[in-house]
Formats: sequence, C-alpha cells, structure tokens
Amino acid sequence: MRSFGGDDTIFADMDRLNPNTQTYQPETLPEREAELNDLHSTLEPAAQGYDPINAFVYGPTGQGKTVGIGLKTTQLQQYADKHDKDVCVVHVRCKGMEKSYHVMTHLIKALREKQYGPGEELPSGHPKKTLFEMIISELEAIGGTVIVILDEIDAIGNDDYVLYELSRANPEDVRLSLIGITNDYRFRDNLNADVRSSLGEDEIEFAPYDANQLRNILARRAAGGLRDTSFSDPDNPFETLESDVLAEDAIPLASAYAAQDSGDAREAIKLMFRACRFADDAGEAAVTAEHVQEAHEYLERAAVERGIRSLPMQRALALLTVTQATITGTKAAETKDLHDIYEVFCNDVDADAISERRFRDKLNDLADSGILTKETRGRGQGLGKTNRYELDVKIQTVLDNLEPDSRLGEFVEETLRPRHK
Ligand SMILES: Nc1ncnc2c1ncn2[C@@H]1O[C@H](COP(=O)(O)OP(=O)(O)O)[C@@H](O)[C@H]1O
Ligand SMILES: [Mg+2]
Repeated sequence: MRSFGGDDTIFADMDRLNPNTQTYQPETLPEREAELNDLHSTLEPAAQGYDPINAFVYGPTGQGKTVGIGLKTTQLQQYADKHDKDVCVVHVRCKGMEKSYHVMTHLIKALREKQYGPGEELPSGHPKKTLFEMIISELEAIGGTVIVILDEIDAIGNDDYVLYELSRANPEDVRLSLIGITNDYRFRDNLNADVRSSLGEDEIEFAPYDANQLRNILARRAAGGLRDTSFSDPDNPFETLESDVLAEDAIPLASAYAAQDSGDAREAIKLMFRACRFADDAGEAAVTAEHVQEAHEYLERAAVERGIRSLPMQRALALLTVTQATITGTKAAETKDLHDIYEVFCNDVDADAISERRFRDKLNDLADSGILTKETRGRGQGLGKTNRYELDVKIQTVLDNLEPDSRLGEFVEETLRPRHK
C-alpha cells in the first residue's frame, strides 16, 4: 500500500491545477482583457456614484465569465470601500433554480446576508408578488449603489418574471444595476423585448477560447502547479514555458482536445489535471501526451456514463432496444425493427409507447450525445432512406449505468442482463 505524503510527486501546488472555481481563482485573465475592459466601462459609473448600467454577459461555459466578473466586482468593492463610496455587490448563482421564484428567494437571502452576515434562511411560503416587494425593501434598506449579479440566469428558462420586474423596479434612494450572465445564447434571444433592451444596455460576449489561448491558460496553471515548471515571459507563457516534469507535447494536445470540443477552459484544465494525476499516481517522472490521451478517454467515458445514468425514460428505452439488437447479434438495426422491439419493451415495463417518428427522434438524440452511432443509407431507387443505429458504448456500460432500483433497472436485471453472456 502506498503511503500518503510521499515527496516523489510532480505537484508543487495541486490546487492550482484544480478546475474547481472554489479551489483556485486566477488573479489575472490576460485572454479576457477586452471583455474585462468592457466590464470596467459598465461598472465605472457605479464607482463614480452615477447611475450604474445594466449588462448582459453571455458566452458558452468555461469562458471565464464567472471568474472575470468576480475579479472586476471585487476590484470595484475594494475601490468603493477605500474611498468611502456606498457600493454593494450581491451575487446569486442561479444554476439549478428553475423558476423566478427560487431566484427571488435566494436574492432576498443574499441581500439580507449583506446586511446581517451569513446564516439567513430562505424565505418560504410567500406569493411571488410579496417576494418581489421584499426584494425592494431589502434594496432600500441597503441603499446607495447596489449591483445584483445573476449568474447562470438562463436556468429560469421562460419564466422571466424576476428579470421583468427587476429591470423596471425603482427602489427609493437606490441606484440599482443588474448584471445577468448566461451560458445559453438562446436565452438572451428569447427574452421579452422590454427585458432584453433594459437588461442589455451593455452586452458583453465571451467567445470560446482558441487552442492558442488555451495553451497559455494551461501554461500559467502548470507553472506553480507542477514542480520545476515556470515561464519567463508573462505575455507568452506557453512559448517560454520550461519544465522538468511536463513533456513538450502534453499541453498542446490537451488544448487541441478542448478547443475542438468547445474551447472550454474548465474542460482543458480538467483534462490537464487528470493527466497530471495519472502520471503522478503511476509514479512517473513526467506528464506526457499519452497521459493526456488516457485522461481524455477516461473523461469521455465518464461523461457518457453520466449521460446514460440521467436519461429520461423514453430515451433510456430507445437505448435498450439498440442494446437488445446488439445482444442478439444485429450489427446496425433499422428504426422500424427497433421500434418493434420497443413496443414489446413498453409492454413489459408498462410504459406508453410513442410513435415510430417520435421514437426515431429519441434515437437521434442518443446519437447526438455519443451513445449511439447513426448511419443513413438509401434503400434503393425511389425507396427513400433508412437510418441504422449501433451502440457507440459497450453493452456492459449500458447495463451497468441504468439506475438499478428504477423500473427500467429491474427490467434490465431480469431480462437483458441474463441474455448478455
Ligand atoms: N483566462 C483564463 N485563465 C486561467 N484560468 C481560466 C481562464 N478562463 C477561465 N479559467 C478557469 O476556467 C474555469 C471556468 O471559468 P468560469 O469563470 O467558471 O467560466 P464560465 O463562468 O464562463 O463558465 C475556472 O476554473 C477558471 O479559473
Ligand atoms: Mg459561470
């Protein structure tokens, strides 16, 4: 058994390579200079005691939106405290809140904690309108300039009540600014036109990082994160990176994977962190491109398994039909044959069967998530096209990742697993 705390590690400061935002916050974001300058311009009036500006910040996940706004608002708060200006910044992370209602209760809690310190309860049992009045009275109790950041506000979907009301609110003796952050472009486009124009006084886009930017981001995290690793030119961290424990092609490969996916810095860091841990666990002296490759496969597999575990009923059933076809030796099964199996399965698990066309949509969703592969072939002259589906994961992976105590899980244990020998 290995002992803890050995000194034969490649890490100097593991936290620095940890993708978790709570664990490590970069102090600078050179790749986001332009966006941070835009944010600065949005926040400057607040610093000067003028009416602050509302803004909409958007871009896909992992682009430094949360960290960037955290940096700028912390800077603003420090400036305001030093110069005795009445500024209060309130953050609400809306992830997982499906309704305006939840956002409002969390906002009230956050506004109260700004006044009384941590430990406030979420208000409960109030109608929406009352909650909104509570927000206004907390804002007035704070007074001065209040900047409300609603991060991942797209969670509320179509229920934009809180944005609609807040963007029209006029609390007494309060200069209110709203900053909405969204990972979902459609959310902004689908907003009520009034809300969009008042919230989007300023619109700041965080476009996906390219491979080059990701290299520099990874180089800065590796320097300090890994032993004997540093760069000499802060403007070119990757180009000037020197390391005894990192092979030259490791960072480029990790950056290329992440850039090709979505330019997500969190993904890039996660991949690098996992590769470093693989190398360290194996007691190897350096992180190589092979470790990055291994980490990439590991994370992809983990993502697919998570995807299977969270499939809704109809999609899970569709997946099981392809699994059944594979077990019985059919290589690529046609939609119609799969739908026949599907009807039998629905009967077995007592679920309502959907039409073949809607069933095909479920198969296509599974293909989009990388769980199935789809192939479209002509049936021959004038006969149209047919889709064929195959598992893109092992049979075992499907069988092992459906919730064992659900209706489908029992069905899998009783029917499918025994067939798979
Ligand atoms: N330019 C950058 N330099 C260093 N780390 C970054 C940079 N941009 C993002 N990150 C890191 O990537 C992760 C995701 O950033 P985050 O701000 O949470 O993204 P978003 O809010 O856009 O989803 C965090 O761990 C963050 O520290
Ligand atoms: Mg974020």
